[in-house]
Amino acid sequence: MLLFKEIAPLRAYLNGRRLKGDTVGFVPTMGALHQGHIALISESIANHSVTVASIFVNPTQFNNPEDLVKYPRTIERDLELLEAAGCDVLFHPEATEIYPNGFITEHHEWNNITNSLEGAFRPGHFDGVITIVKKLFDIVEPQAAYFGQKDFQQCAVIAEMIKHFNLGVNMRICPTLREADGLAMSSRNVRLNASERADALFIFEALSYIKQHQGTLPVGELLSIAEKILLKSSVMKPEYIAIVETDSLNPADKLLPNREYVALIATWCGNVRLIDNMLLKD
Ligand code: PAJ
Repeated sequence: MLLFKEIAPLRAYLNGRRLKGDTVGFVPTMGALHQGHIALISESIANHSVTVASIFVNPTQFNNPEDLVKYPRTIERDLELLEAAGCDVLFHPEATEIYPNGFITEHHEWNNITNSLEGAFRPGHFDGVITIVKKLFDIVEPQAAYFGQKDFQQCAVIAEMIKHFNLGVNMRICPTLREADGLAMSSRNVRLNASERADALFIFEALSYIKQHQGTLPVGELLSIAEKILLKSSVMKPEYIAIVETDSLNPADKLLPNREYVALIATWCGNVRLIDNMLLKD
């Protein structure tokens, strides 16, 4: 695997590959890689002759400074995982390479896509995500970029960004990878202690409850039972439990037969903030 820390040589290399007819697939990450990330890499490898991963813990998307400091950084192991997965190129820049003029972000509001849920609870978070993903797309110029459904709203924001700026990048969304017991894989899971790790499973239980009982109970009741499931844990402090339409992210009052919905949860589990979601169809 080739490692680039600077933009110019990465661009030169990828331009050379494109001239030879290669296509570039891209997987942006913040490192502390797990099998969820590797699944995205494998999907890109299956579809492109060059797969580029990036590892960059993007300061502008952390609304909570403590979260940025505590974000796990495991670069040696990440390199091993990427090599083993067959990734071709890693872009691992310093912050000054990406933000030469300081940590300035672009502000965008696209209704509930940016303003609800994570947008409401993490002010500025999506401005940071939009800014970094747009910069990375401009640097890598991928034919397709791969994202995880785990961050459902992030996918909606990036899809809207691609539309808004008429970007020529195909977005591919891959399913959420879970641990054997159902907990969504996340870089932040390593920060949970043993009892928090056990309690974190209530998130999957609450989402599964909503999915299984959709159509049999009113939305308000589904949400309040889901909340009760989370609150079986004394360390769980939910920020939101929501059922929204998958395209607009508008809240659902009632589940209509020909619309698609997703249930989403954000909760503190001890002092780790976890998010997860489940599509209500199929
Ligand atoms: P990060 O949290 O490292 O996630 C990188 C990609 O992996 C995202 O597309 C995310 O949705 C996906 N992912 C995480 N956990 C997953 C799981 N359990 N199953 C499947 N996919 C999973 O998301 C970011 O980084 C950043 O916001 C980024 C887009 C890189 C911009 O900084």
